Amino acid sequence: CGIIARVGDGSAIDPLLSGLENLEYRGYDSAGVAVQNGSGIDVQKRSGKVSDLKRSIDDVTLEGAVGIGHTRWSTHGPPTDENAHPHTDQVGDVAVVHNGIIENYARLKSRLAAEGHEFTSETDTEVIPHLIQSHIDDGLDTESAFRRAIAELEGSYAVAAMRSGEHVLYAARQGSPLVVGIEDDGYFLASDVPAFLEYTDTVVYLEDGDVVVVDETGIEYTDQDGNPIERERETVEWDPEQAGKGEYDHFMLKEINEQPTAIAQAIEGRIDPARGAIDLDGFEPGAFEDIDEVQFVACGTSYHAALYGATALNRIGISATAMLANEYSVAAPPIDDGTLVVAVTQSGETADTLNALRSAAAAGAETLTLTNVIGSTASRIADKTLLIRAGPEIGVAATKTFSSQALMLVLLSRRIAADRSGERSGDRRSLLEAVESMPESIERVLDRSGAAAVARRYGDSQSYFFIGRGFGYAVSLEGALKFKEITYEHAEGFASGELKHGPLALVTPETPIFAVFTGTEDEKTLKNAEEAQTRGAPVIALCPPGHEATEIADEHLEIPETDATLAGLLANVQLQLVSYYAATQLDRSIDKPRNLAKSVTVE
Ligand code: G6P
Repeated sequence: CGIIARVGDGSAIDPLLSGLENLEYRGYDSAGVAVQNGSGIDVQKRSGKVSDLKRSIDDVTLEGAVGIGHTRWSTHGPPTDENAHPHTDQVGDVAVVHNGIIENYARLKSRLAAEGHEFTSETDTEVIPHLIQSHIDDGLDTESAFRRAIAELEGSYAVAAMRSGEHVLYAARQGSPLVVGIEDDGYFLASDVPAFLEYTDTVVYLEDGDVVVVDETGIEYTDQDGNPIERERETVEWDPEQAGKGEYDHFMLKEINEQPTAIAQAIEGRIDPARGAIDLDGFEPGAFEDIDEVQFVACGTSYHAALYGATALNRIGISATAMLANEYSVAAPPIDDGTLVVAVTQSGETADTLNALRSAAAAGAETLTLTNVIGSTASRIADKTLLIRAGPEIGVAATKTFSSQALMLVLLSRRIAADRSGERSGDRRSLLEAVESMPESIERVLDRSGAAAVARRYGDSQSYFFIGRGFGYAVSLEGALKFKEITYEHAEGFASGELKHGPLALVTPETPIFAVFTGTEDEKTLKNAEEAQTRGAPVIALCPPGHEATEIADEHLEIPETDATLAGLLANVQLQLVSYYAATQLDRSIDKPRNLAKSVTVE
């Protein structure tokens, strides 16, 4: 999911290929380039690595002073050569690269198909070159055709396009990043600065709604209606490695801050609060009507998201269990006709989870995977795939993918309820409104967190405890896991009711207790926290302002008021920040903690 494009003096191919390599860190499963040669547009693209692409173009001559390139992270259609970008119209006259999601692509595609357009990929992107071409066929010049096509797109996009025989790039941004790089003898367009930083450090950040037309002599910035606008040049002072992280010191912090966008992408086109509707792509109404019980299997952070999902289901009267995938294969609960087994796995490649999924499928269960990676092994094994659309996560410690997983499981739980019992849509309205404002609520947590101060104050403690009930329990486990992963300090999560059944023996003034209040039996959690406080432990309360816990707690990390089903996710963002700042103080290797791997493909 990265764009690179160049127009200028000299051949574009080397800057394009090095741009693709510089975008590799963002994660991708396919890559491709298109350059303008003397007679038309040459496209080379394939699934796999940029190095595979480079090898495949060693034998052909790709020359031309204008070109576009792309690394793809699949969202519609698996990673195949056909689905890789650039995409063209059917005669190869217009080539396009795109990041984001075109929500109305199905409608556009059937309209174009009715006009005789033939499509060769399963992507949403392919409609764009066809759309441009159809407007050219109607007599518009390329720029007007591009503008008209852009105006018809709904969703989020960064798009770069070119047309055969022209030394011009056309680009637009709406909801996905796009930045211009300015050289003495040419221009770049890219998803982010590291793509071209070895060539130039003079940049212009485009904004949503911007459309640009670039050739080697100049660039024109306009709004979508074609009115000229001013955009300021800036000089970036980062080294290339820093540039990948943007303004952040670590990918983890960047990904924590990306959560509002990740959640917005996860729910885009999937909920309609006014109608109380949950529309999960690929799942017809009634798809879950025969489900009596859900068994979740997952590992690590994904297991905590699974626990969150099981809590959501049980609370609305649908039987659910969350099991560690490695334990599931030892003693799987019985499966019958109405059992749905859901494998929650960010990467879709965790060996433990895949094995549990395989054994569930072999036992005859209906299977579904909730994953971030389309075409992953999990999605190939499972009957159904639900994507979290969080975008690539680079930090080994999962952050944004947890939030997206847990939120999607809340939606899935309500969708199952709707299909099974015909739960009335009105019953979902207020939850869906809260879901819709999640990006904003997370933004508020990020804006004034207070986590850094708490990490400073308690950063040299002996051990860190996290307690909560219901959704708060899942979050406590996740808070503790995050803390141990990146600080290397001892941290444990407990169900708050369990504190008195053993762990209380460990409590001292050197064991700060993070108490998560999610509106479920909060008075009991408060009592449990006080029991620890009486033994000298400082209590850090995660709760809304004015909550009774703030009266006794030593510290308060605020979470905005929201639906009780979602409050835990906001508390979790606070805990991610606490872990992050505690680990920075200790100077830990935050993005790559010792001994850990992002994806564990052995049992
Ligand atoms: C590894 C990672 C964890 C992750 C777990 C499950 O252990 O270090 O951060 O939660 O795998 O990964 P998955 O890709 O299946 O969600």
